[in-house]
Amino acid sequence: MKVSIIGGGGLVGSCAGFALQTGGIVRTIALLDVNAELAAGQALDMLHGGPSTADQQIVTGGYEQVSDSDVICITAGLRRKPDESRLDLINRNVDLFTSILGEIRKAGYRKDAIVLVVSNPVDVLTYLAAKMLDLPLGQIIGLGTQLDTIRFRALIAQQLKLAPTQVAALILGEHGDSMVPVWSSATAAGLPLEKYTGWSTNLANELFTRTKGSGAEVIKKKGGAGFAVGIAIRDVIHSIALDQNRVLPVSSVQQGCYDIRDVALSVPTVVGRRGVVATHEIDLWPKEVQGLRKSGQVLRQTIDAVMARVGAKA
Ligand code: 2OP
Repeated sequence: MKVSIIGGGGLVGSCAGFALQTGGIVRTIALLDVNAELAAGQALDMLHGGPSTADQQIVTGGYEQVSDSDVICITAGLRRKPDESRLDLINRNVDLFTSILGEIRKAGYRKDAIVLVVSNPVDVLTYLAAKMLDLPLGQIIGLGTQLDTIRFRALIAQQLKLAPTQVAALILGEHGDSMVPVWSSATAAGLPLEKYTGWSTNLANELFTRTKGSGAEVIKKKGGAGFAVGIAIRDVIHSIALDQNRVLPVSSVQQGCYDIRDVALSVPTVVGRRGVVATHEIDLWPKEVQGLRKSGQVLRQTIDAVMARVGAKA
């Protein structure tokens, strides 16, 4: 399996490359970046660790690396300022993103390639990629709320002093301000969270608020996310590489799940080598379904504005 990471010289892209290297599953990792020297430096630094990780190829180069890639991961983009919402970022990133899509089209890509969009605002750019690349909708995936979900689980586990791997709690919808916490199915070691000492509605609200603000919190402290987003990317790419059919909260253009259509956002999605294998309309509380549909409406407005802008520029 070959993965090309566009933006591989940057914090998100290089952390994704390192997570894939230490994961040892992907055979070839190609780091592409407009700053070729930086990408070459990241690749060399990873290569040096090779003898103690796995027998993989760590390469760098231009868009020629894309044409035989099984997964094309797009992480390039300008980062949010601490007080900037992801959607505000859109105009600054749409131009860059459309130029990247143009380069991918020029280079050519496998008809079974999976495109994994990470650049923000990820749901809008996932929709844009689905419109601009000649691939089935299911082969265009956005990292969506997979990162929010592992942040959510980590903060709940930290609060309850539990093993993070035993906490199951989903975030769905927009990877952004309208994201939806799914308390209806949240458990720790298979037990509902409210069974744990100290659990309360206030605590639940605090943990969700902190999760939603985690991106900005990390930006403020260290300039931007790297390690966790790299692991979230690895989770998705490993499910593709191993055809695991894991159910992950990732973004794709919806075709009716929860009555949501023609907008990209995160729902429970079966991810395998073919990309989106299926989506599951799991039973949610009515307010959770309403939140999901609200997410769709928020994203729809921005998508309309972006498509008008892209159309105007085409
Ligand atoms: C975040 O939430 C990078 O959007 C990503 O940190």
